Amino acid sequence: MKEKILVTGGAGYIGSHTTVELQTAGYEVVIVDNLSNSNEEVIDGIARVSDSRPAFEKVDCTDKAAMDGVFKKHAGIKGIIHFAASKAVGESVEKPLLYYRNNIVSLVNLLELMPAHKVDGIVFSSSCTVYGQPNPKDLPVTETAPILPATSPYGNTKQIDEEIIRDTIHAGVPFKSIILRYFNPIGAHPTAEIGELPNGVPQNLIPYLTQTAIGIRKELSVFGNDYSTPDGSCIRDFINVVDLAKAHVIAIERMLNNKSKAPLEYFNLGTGRGVSVLELINTFEKATGVPVPHKIVARREGDIEQIWANPHYANEVLGWKATETLEDTLKSAWAWQQKLRERGIM
Ligand code: UD1
Repeated sequence: MKEKILVTGGAGYIGSHTTVELQTAGYEVVIVDNLSNSNEEVIDGIARVSDSRPAFEKVDCTDKAAMDGVFKKHAGIKGIIHFAASKAVGESVEKPLLYYRNNIVSLVNLLELMPAHKVDGIVFSSSCTVYGQPNPKDLPVTETAPILPATSPYGNTKQIDEEIIRDTIHAGVPFKSIILRYFNPIGAHPTAEIGELPNGVPQNLIPYLTQTAIGIRKELSVFGNDYSTPDGSCIRDFINVVDLAKAHVIAIERMLNNKSKAPLEYFNLGTGRGVSVLELINTFEKATGVPVPHKIVARREGDIEQIWANPHYANEVLGWKATETLEDTLKSAWAWQQKLRERGIM
């Protein structure tokens, strides 16, 4: 068995896929999750896929005493992957303090507890949102693209969290960190045992699309077709969630085996390919043969027109590359939606 890793938010979408990959690679995983946007059945799904059940603690990372208790109970945690956070852009505009508390207090608690419990490093879930709308000349974005003012409290929490990690390492606190900036993670595990399961009406494109395809929603609204892009809809870099999960295993290995070039590193996790919203709907329909009723509506406030990654640095230095095709990724999202129906969940 390799090192013991704490995965906060491990019952969530990216956290559950990452736990599977960590366990498959031989790591021992302790999940901390307050289940605010997930449920304990996800742990069963993880156990079915990876033949091993992670330890699970229903704890809120903003509760420092409870987190101290987790480190004591599961002594010997060597690394942390910190996913636990609130992530709905619109909700963050309405409830900024909820976002600042959840996303910032939890990180500060972990960083304060790490030295006392001799944890060597933390991989942090960041987002391409830190780049704002890059200048067209900076597309596709590299890790050195300017960090632009955030367009939402959610985006601001990711920027502030990155700064908190940077300042803490700069001050000489003895731990390492790798900051992973995700583009748009989509899809589900090929077994359809785990996937994305948002509470209520989905805010993100893919769950709304698959719920429309299966008939839960009447039609998908495409937010705007008057952007300065070839077909007028927004452009994103859609990255397969299992590919993304694998990057975390590589990052943990790099950090714990002292392969990092510096105590703090940043990597963009994307495919390098920009795909428009309309193109994505089209690809889904072709890959699955299932129509997606959709209509064009007004732009969504706060949306970025276009962003996609230059993944060269992650490919060369981290040694990670996205390999799944968009077609297969969309098929996996569809298989997951059908599985939810079979199980009577949605
Ligand atoms: C946003 C955040 C990202 C965050 C992610 C997680 C920004 C700029 N981006 O990504 O950092 O990690 O949420 O929640 O803050 N769309 C439709 N119809 C829909 C839903 C979406 O047309 O019903 C379009 C959007 O306009 C957008 C694209 O699909 O162009 C992707 O939207 P979404 O899945 O919500 O992700 P982002 O907004 O890119």
